[in-house]
Amino acid sequence: MRIAIAADHGGFALKNKIMEHFKNLNLLDLGTDSADSVDYPDFAKKMAYTILSGAADLGILICGTGIGMSIAANRYHGIRAALVYNREVAKLAKQHNNANILVFGGRTMDEKEVISSIEAFLNSDFEGNRHQRRLDKIEQTE
Ligand code: RB5
Repeated sequence: MRIAIAADHGGFALKNKIMEHFKNLNLLDLGTDSADSVDYPDFAKKMAYTILSGAADLGILICGTGIGMSIAANRYHGIRAALVYNREVAKLAKQHNNANILVFGGRTMDEKEVISSIEAFLNSDFEGNRHQRRLDKIEQTE
């Protein structure tokens, strides 16, 4: 599985920590590359195109709170971006929502909890059935 990661300045430090922890997964780094101020919608867009084109199977987006990245990423049809705040929610984001982007808050979330949440997501499976029916309804939304 190819995993891409991107952040704005509010998520830059956490992005580095995640990349360091998961270096064996060879994450595809879409930036930003410094703590200088940038606009999170630019990185949400880059990530959405990366996922929708098939260049990556899963994305990790980080801004200060995770809220801006969530709002921006979910504007792209086919993106299911989940703002994940603990391990249990991470599991459910896979099992029920089949999320293709995980979003975290670099200024609001604990590094260890974030890493544990990513692991929980990667070790879970989508349950399909009624959950697929619900995702289909979302996809039909204009
Ligand atoms: C940037 O200062 C901050 O607004 C951004 O990282 C994010 O938290 C927005 O939702």
